[in-house]
Formats: sequence, structure tokens, C-alpha cells
Amino acid sequence: MKSKIIIARPIFEATLARLREHFEVTDNQADTPWTKASWTQALSQHVGALTTGSDPVDAEVLKACPNLKAVANMAVGYNNFDVPAMTAHGVQASNTPDVLTETTADFGFALLMATARRITESEHYLRRGEWTQWRYDMFAGAEVHGSTIGILGMGRIGQGIARRAAHGFGMKVIYHNRSRLSAESEAECKATYVSKEELLKTADHVMLVVPYSAASHHTIGAAELAQMKPTATLINIARGGIVDDAALAVALREKQIAAAGLDVFEGEPKVHPDLLTVPNVVLTPHIASASIPTRMAMANLAADNLISYFTQGKSLTPLNTVAA
Ligand code: GLV
Ligand code: GLV
Repeated sequence: MKSKIIIARPIFEATLARLREHFEVTDNQADTPWTKASWTQALSQHVGALTTGSDPVDAEVLKACPNLKAVANMAVGYNNFDVPAMTAHGVQASNTPDVLTETTADFGFALLMATARRITESEHYLRRGEWTQWRYDMFAGAEVHGSTIGILGMGRIGQGIARRAAHGFGMKVIYHNRSRLSAESEAECKATYVSKEELLKTADHVMLVVPYSAASHHTIGAAELAQMKPTATLINIARGGIVDDAALAVALREKQIAAAGLDVFEGEPKVHPDLLTVPNVVLTPHIASASIPTRMAMANLAADNLISYFTQGKSLTPLNTVAA
């Protein structure tokens, strides 16, 4: 008899077909929204699940799911998981690292360019029919090439951004991270390690790529925004909650910093209403990894993680160790 797994959210037909060869699959192609209670109830009927970064698997959910064995997150971030609780319940947790690194770094750069060079703001102006003639200072923004980028969080994605910045745009790269990179990696990224304070004070562009945890909650709040240059831009491709969005809206309105580009939000898909009314912010709906090939690679890796767990006793990219 095939094991029963649940796919929390819509997914590629080809991935579903593959999973159906191995499992009895409950899908949610209709994208019916879950409440925590309905999600917990549905999950409790299955031994495996494919989740996206927003479906919770925490101690409360796990208590109601004694038969659960493996959950594969189709995301590199996994703050929707309580990994220690999953380990305690003998549930294999996995994510999708590596396959999205370069695509997400591309998007970080896209958001940086759009923000510094005021691309969306100027497009809205054009669409409103307000463009009547050329003007010397019309949508004049910040320089990108040759400027200093400060990368907070120097994992795989942070290093991808650093390589683009140093080698493609001749930028000076400074970074801060819990641990320093090896001398070899620093040389490859042409990156210099600095304190968080120095990074905030000296960077022309601050790029956030830190994973979310209780410790990184509001890494950027009013005090940190006040340390940044008035001409600086802030880019968040990490997770909602890393930035205090209410404080950011104030800083943008008061021009404490020049502009921000945000792909992730506290409490998304809700967006702080004040961010919707300030012009100097570029807003995108959590799409940094969303190229078609990369989303397919993420879906396939998540599927392979489940198949590997149920056939070999271990996922390919596990986040914990459990007895099979
Ligand atoms: C997306 O946010 C991811 O963590 O993969
Ligand atoms: C995060 O895990 C990253 O790949 O930067």
C-alpha cells in the first residue's frame, strides 16, 4: 500500500504526477486557504507532506500528528518549521537549498537596481500620463556601479550577491555575518568583514539575506535605520520580520534613508498600510526565487526529499537526523 502524503499548496502537474507514482497524494491544486486548525487536521491524516514556507509544522501541530514521518519544505528558509520539535517527534525535515541560490541573488540585484534607479516609481509616473518633457533631475537616483554594498547575512545567497556586486558592478563589498567566511571565500567575493554598525554607517546599499529566527527579529529597526546614510537604500529579500516595517515606513516618509526594495513583509501577504502609501519603496510579492526553471527545481527537490525518505530512510537535503 502506498504511503499517504499531502501537498499543502498548488504545485507543477509534472511534480504531482511523479509523487503519485510513489504515494497516495492529497493535493490542494484549488489553493483552498488553510486555517491552522484545518491544516493540522488534514496533516494528521498523512505520513508525509510537501509544504511551502508558510505552512506551519510546530509543536502544537506535531502533537496532533503522531503518524507524521517527513515534511519537505519547498523553500530554503524554514522558519515555518520547529526543527527541534520535529526531531523530538521523529519527523524528518528538509528544505531546498542551493537550487535557488543564483536565481535569488539575481532578484536581489534586480530589486537593488529598481530601487536605486527608481524604476517602478518612474513607470507609475509615465503610466499616469504625467511625463511631458525631459528634466535634468527627473527620477535621478543613487549610483549602483562603484558604490559600496553592505550584505547582512553571508550565506550562499549573500555570496551570490557579493560576486555580482564585485565582479559585475565594480562595487566595494562589505559584509557582516555570525561567522566570518574563509579567506578563500572572502577573496572570491572580494568581500571585507565589518561590524554591523560599520556596515550600516558606510554602505550605500544594504542588502538583507539573513535567515529569520527569534534572534534576527527586527534586525533592522528605528535605531538601525537612523545609523544608515540619508542617501542609502535598503533591500530585504530575506524574510518578513527581519525589518520593523512600521519603523521603515516612517524612515522612508521622513527621508531618513532614500529608498527601500522589499520582497518580504511582516505578516505577509498583508503589507503594512503605510508602506503602500510612500513612493520611495519598491514592493514585490515574495518572488525572489520565482524563475520557472528554479521553481521547478525546488518542487522536484522537495518531491525527491520525500521519495528518498520513504524509500531510503533519509531525505537528500535534510535539516535534522531522525531514526528511520
Ligand atoms: C523563499 O523565501 C525561500 O525561503 O525559499
Ligand atoms: C540561505 O540559506 C542561503 O542560501 O543564503
